[in-house]
Amino acid sequence: MDPSETSRSRTPSNIAAYFGRLAGTYGDGAYYGNRRAAVLDALAGEIASARDMLDVGCGNGAYLTKFVAAAGNRTVTGVDLTFDMLLSARERVGPKCRLVNADVSRLPFKAASFDFIFASHVLQFVADVESVVAEFARCLQRGGVMIATGQRDDSVRQMLSVIVGQEKWREYREVIFRRAERREADARPKDRYQQAFLKAGLRVEERAAPFTVTWPEIAEWINIRWRPLIPADERERADAMIGELAKMGASQSLTQHEPLIIGRRDG
Ligand SMILES: C[S@@+](CC[C@H](N)C(=O)[O-])C[C@H]1O[C@@H](n2cnc3c(N)ncnc32)[C@H](O)[C@@H]1O
Repeated sequence: MDPSETSRSRTPSNIAAYFGRLAGTYGDGAYYGNRRAAVLDALAGEIASARDMLDVGCGNGAYLTKFVAAAGNRTVTGVDLTFDMLLSARERVGPKCRLVNADVSRLPFKAASFDFIFASHVLQFVADVESVVAEFARCLQRGGVMIATGQRDDSVRQMLSVIVGQEKWREYREVIFRRAERREADARPKDRYQQAFLKAGLRVEERAAPFTVTWPEIAEWINIRWRPLIPADERERADAMIGELAKMGASQSLTQHEPLIIGRRDG
């Protein structure tokens, strides 16, 4: 996906090519680890009572490993469009999980197959959020719960732009974050997700999962999330910038709140 990305370029093959390059490392490191721990903590009650769990856009299985390890008897299924993500997920999760290569807009499951459906950082890659959420809702049992993270992944980038200043930020953005989505003027993703949940007939609640990251953890995140997407002939320049950036805010830390949109289908 290019910086000028619009929903038109979110074709399945573009998405799979983009995430294929991140299949080995997405979700590694302290930034993602802290974020995931906060989300799991915020959802501990729902996870404990879940029996048939579906992780849509499961990536390389960072959440699946936790769902499989949770106490109690349960089935765990992960779906992703990117085959390389699923290969990596299989290595991480082992055999106790069903993995399905499919598009979240057409889930190959019967109605009401799951009592817990989880979509972490997936809806921002989907062109028609309403119909995808309706598809999730089709698969949700009465009494079940479905959760989406409601944030674009750009709050760290926003903080970086403030710390490094406009001029440097323009340079960094062009080299390091060139494949990041640019914020749309009216982008309020969690409101859009909430509306889609309501339209799908769910009772909606919002919950925040707070976590803190330090500056070295942010530099590590840049290497994990963005460096693999930088063309080889730009890497040297990018590495110099990442090194410069790592020194700039050494004592800074950032508290973030991962917003969770929670929808319930009443029993
Ligand atoms: C940002 S990653 C998040 C991975 C994981 N949910 C997590 O939080 O660690 C987004 C994932 O969604 C997948 N994805 C994006 N659009 C999809 C679609 N239409 N159908 C299935 N998977 C999709 C990508 O392949 C990628 O693995």
